[in-house]
Amino acid sequence: MRNIELKEKPIGGYIELQLPPGEEYYPSLLGVNTGRNCLEYILRVKGYETIYLPYFTCDVLLEPIKKLNVELKYYHIDPNLDPIIDFDVGEKECFVYTNYFGLKDKTVAKLTSEVKNLIIDNSQAFFSNPHSHIDTFYSCRKFFGVPDGAYLHLTGLIRLALKADTSINRFSHLIKSIDVGIEEGYTDFVNNNRVLFNNNIREMSSLTKRILSGIDYQYCRKRREDNFRYLHEFLKDRNQLRIEADEINGPMAYPFLYYKSDLKQQLISRKVFVPTYWPNVFEWTTKDMFEYGLADNLVALPIDHRYTEADMKRILTCINQLL
Ligand SMILES: Cc1ncc(COP(=O)(O)O)c(C=O)c1O
Repeated sequence: MRNIELKEKPIGGYIELQLPPGEEYYPSLLGVNTGRNCLEYILRVKGYETIYLPYFTCDVLLEPIKKLNVELKYYHIDPNLDPIIDFDVGEKECFVYTNYFGLKDKTVAKLTSEVKNLIIDNSQAFFSNPHSHIDTFYSCRKFFGVPDGAYLHLTGLIRLALKADTSINRFSHLIKSIDVGIEEGYTDFVNNNRVLFNNNIREMSSLTKRILSGIDYQYCRKRREDNFRYLHEFLKDRNQLRIEADEINGPMAYPFLYYKSDLKQQLISRKVFVPTYWPNVFEWTTKDMFEYGLADNLVALPIDHRYTEADMKRILTCINQLL
């Protein structure tokens, strides 16, 4: 009797953080704590022994590969960021393709009928729906103000029993940025990213789920698309990456490829904070490789829901002064 009483919803007491009600964007997908752990989930359930990974991706994906002792083989991408597949994928092997910047939906669609045991990494493509017969994962913090959280579309019937994660100890940068400023929260951001290393697979935390349920996704997607188109209009002639801008779908960033090695640093010194995708690529490749140049020279310009045309103008002004 006492146990039942304890589980009853408490009434009264203090009022908790108030978040807008709503629904998650992918309510029917599995909620997991991180993108890398979605990959672990797939590897565990499918029992793959070898994995093909692009040279151009994030090294945290190595966590599950090492943990499960899966053999790793790298492959190259071409100047359109499409995979160069000059090998066969075997029965016990899988092939991961990253939907770069959320701009590679067409390539993904093509691969779904061409590549065996395909896994799509949509960490950079939150708004790209999964294909029903393809294992696909997402990472939420690249798009929204959450400390962790990922979605997994998993084919087949096997599911793992997972404990729920908690996010309270990696939340500080998100609230610091509002109360004291984004630059003041940066050290916390770095530390909280570090806390995500080598965690067990867990179900997405209630806190992350609640925040994700209160987001106006249509607004976020539209702002991204408007900002992207605005930048593209002014940068397309100088951009050495070919982009098909008419079919964008809430992309992650505007990838501006321009072979001028200090452009990223110059922008950062003008407080336009652009990341490097991905620093590990410099270790995985040599200077003569396409992926090395990409990691060095690709400037991922921010276009997310926080920004309007005025912010895009400021970015363009900086770029015009620097080129
Ligand atoms: C392309 C890509 N895939 C997967 C991940 C892993 O996502 P998470 O940090 O949620 O594990 C990242 C970054 O962390 C990434 O950049």
